[in-house]
Amino acid sequence: MQTIHQILDKADSLISKEVVVHGWVRAYRSGGSGKLHFIKVYDGSTIKDIQCVFEGTMDKLDYQSSVIITGTLVTSPAKGQTHEVKATSVKLLCGCDPTTFPLPQTELELQTLRHHPDLRMRLPTSQAIMRIRHRITQTIHNFFDEQDFTLVQTPLITQSDCEGAGEAFSVVTSADKDFFGEGVKAYLTVSGQLQGEAAARGLGRIYTFGTTFRAEKSKTSRHLAEFLMIEPEMAFYDMDMTIDLAIRMVKACIQACLVKCMDEIVVLEKKCPGLVKKLEDTVAKDFMIITYTEAIEILQKSGATFEVAPVWGIDMSSEHERFLTENIFDRCTVVKCYPKDIKAFYMHENDDGKTVASFDLLIPGVGELIGGSQREVRYDVLKAKMDAKGLDYKWYQDLRRYGNVPTSGYGLGFDRLVRYITGIEHIRDVVPFPVAYQSLAM
Ligand code: 4AD
Repeated sequence: MQTIHQILDKADSLISKEVVVHGWVRAYRSGGSGKLHFIKVYDGSTIKDIQCVFEGTMDKLDYQSSVIITGTLVTSPAKGQTHEVKATSVKLLCGCDPTTFPLPQTELELQTLRHHPDLRMRLPTSQAIMRIRHRITQTIHNFFDEQDFTLVQTPLITQSDCEGAGEAFSVVTSADKDFFGEGVKAYLTVSGQLQGEAAARGLGRIYTFGTTFRAEKSKTSRHLAEFLMIEPEMAFYDMDMTIDLAIRMVKACIQACLVKCMDEIVVLEKKCPGLVKKLEDTVAKDFMIITYTEAIEILQKSGATFEVAPVWGIDMSSEHERFLTENIFDRCTVVKCYPKDIKAFYMHENDDGKTVASFDLLIPGVGELIGGSQREVRYDVLKAKMDAKGLDYKWYQDLRRYGNVPTSGYGLGFDRLVRYITGIEHIRDVVPFPVAYQSLAM
């Protein structure tokens, strides 16, 4: 069985040969006094439809009906496609009653489609987004594979709250209070980093690619309660080497989409004019790299008014982050060396005693895409910080006692990267089945 992608890809060698198309009706019209039937079929293997032309008598086909069409591949005499199928048989598998099917055959707002996660993957915009998600996923695996990284699966149910921000969902069973042992508390992971640090001491370079959960009560266009995070962790890397890796990875993902998903990007460009140029510029331009202290000074000198005044020590808001990337630098920007008091316990404390070796990679239109750091590997410093916060993951501290090495890593919010590459404004529109605050659709 061939997909439409395979048929179109090998079209020249399939001319005059029999092909069988399995898919759904994107559009149907009849002409030639009702004797010619033009059926545009999609099957999800490519963003392109294939036109099938049947001559004879047949019933009208409703939009989104499923069909199997057999015929001969020919060069198309009409505009709009290079090849088409001269159909000899059109088999209707299942109709799709337009009086009850919830999606009309018109251009629909993404916000409307958000209420139909069960149906929206039948439409070109969602199909383009999903195919780009797939391309980014493949690129990330290749990117790390080529550099001797090992993919490590870290647990979804864990005892540790890595970020220590109190945003973890608890895991309980309805019947058994002590499922994991008497009094043992269990959470859905907010990050695989702590386990990643253990794996990197032994495997050298690892990455995770997994579902992550945050109970953030946030309905913004960049927050989900369940999202994908990619977390590389590298032995013998410092912060600057890690920033370099992060930038190369983001550029590799965009470049792969420009090369392999141009048809999808062209579909999305209709919703986001200038998308191709934005992506090409992102690959071509150097990312800006500044310190947190410089970022605050730049925001102060800008003369702009912000909801929260930019003073040293604040946790920059998305308003500040977007101002830097969109109004000041007009490019992706890395901000490094944040104040230690606003960052997590595991980050390496710099010699100035005030900042940590951490960084955020910020992107225009979205804000923070990546958060990363060089880890605190001095046992005594780490233990003191964890004691002060009442954290006692002894195994994590002990990593610093046995064959200890410096490690660094970062977490990339996959769904935010998809937002940037597709140009889609709301994170819930780029996730197959979004789970977000006060929104559990399925
Ligand atoms: O900056 P974060 O919290 O970093 C960590 O979790 C580190 N442990 C990563 C590491 O060093 N291994 O999260 C990393 C990224 C953010 O930059 C953001 O892109 C994404 O995860 N993210 C979210 N994406 C969607 N919805 C949310 N609620 C998110 N919270 C974080």
